[in-house]
Amino acid sequence: MKPLADFPLDSMNTLGVKSKAEYFYSFGSVEELEHVIGWARSHNQPLRLLGGGSNVLLEPDVSGLILQSAILGKHCVRDTESQVWLKVGAGENWHDFTQWSIQNGYCGLENLSLIPGLVGASPIQNIGAYGVEVSSLIESVEVYDLEQNQLRTLNKMECEFAYRDSIFKRSEGRALIVLNITFVLDKSPSVNISYPVLQQHFENANIAKPSARDVANAVIEIRQNKLPSPSETPNVGSFFKNPVVDEDQLSQLLKLHPEMPHYTHGALYKIAAAWLIDQAGWKGKAIAGVAVHHQQALVVVNPEHQNLDVILGFASEVQRDIQQKFGISLEIEPQCLASIELDRSAAW
Ligand code: EPU
Repeated sequence: MKPLADFPLDSMNTLGVKSKAEYFYSFGSVEELEHVIGWARSHNQPLRLLGGGSNVLLEPDVSGLILQSAILGKHCVRDTESQVWLKVGAGENWHDFTQWSIQNGYCGLENLSLIPGLVGASPIQNIGAYGVEVSSLIESVEVYDLEQNQLRTLNKMECEFAYRDSIFKRSEGRALIVLNITFVLDKSPSVNISYPVLQQHFENANIAKPSARDVANAVIEIRQNKLPSPSETPNVGSFFKNPVVDEDQLSQLLKLHPEMPHYTHGALYKIAAAWLIDQAGWKGKAIAGVAVHHQQALVVVNPEHQNLDVILGFASEVQRDIQQKFGISLEIEPQCLASIELDRSAAW
């Protein structure tokens, strides 16, 4: 076992930026992970964690040791008449897992079909689409804790899930490496088609009681029509988060822009950032080869494989303009790989 030096990450990030890792290692078991952590300690290398690369912003040269989970497996760990508990390895492909679960008669993941990336990344940004957030289907997350040097299981509460957020994204959760996730799925069909485009889709198709397979097929069709495929046009899905505002801010905005799409979000309101960017005239607009996608204004595309500086320069132009036109600050959704310093005094 030895990490690979000067490892190219060009094909391991869907934004298509040129990038190189100082060291890279893909681990397939806890034993391999412990071994490589020992290597990083003895070589004084910080760690960084990479999933499927579909929600990251990579520098041209990424220092330290990049770890990627290749832990596989889909096991039923509990079963009742109405529900099933599935423990799934972080290295499994997300979309393949959603389709496998539907084929096996399990319901819940259909709205999250076709999201790129690995299962292990799903709780980190709490992936969500078409009215469903993955946190609603997670019972627990098994992690390796680099501070305590042991395996731990975090229940759903401990994951501190929120919109596009969880403990794993924050500094207090950075030392946690996701290994396996336990999902709770329904055995009976209990689909959620509350999201407006899904409702519309089934009204048009005259289907009153869609199955999980019907919902998955609809989501796949809608995504393929609206979102660019990363294998054809480099992108990381939504580049910005939808801003969340309180009632006062919302009513001020609606006075000026009565048609602005917004959704309740607990006691607050989510505004469609795509609409703001679209209204500001950015749809299809490019600077130095980086562009706002012509069909979904929340997606930034990088067809010329520009490096991260150019992409961030473009994003800050969009942010500045939206601030100026609407008084709203847009937050970037994908993340840079945080560096985790290891405690060298830990016993090995
Ligand atoms: N809209 C525009 N212009 C556009 C695109 C959309 O005005 O170019 C308007 C639409 O008319 C709609 C509203 O904006 O009223 C919302 O659009 P959409 O339903 O496409 O969803 P979104 O809020 O832009 C979010 C997620 C997506 C997810 C979709 C569907 C975030 C940051 N993004 O986008 O997630 O697929 O909902 O649920 O929450 C991702 O995270 O990478 C991602 C693609």
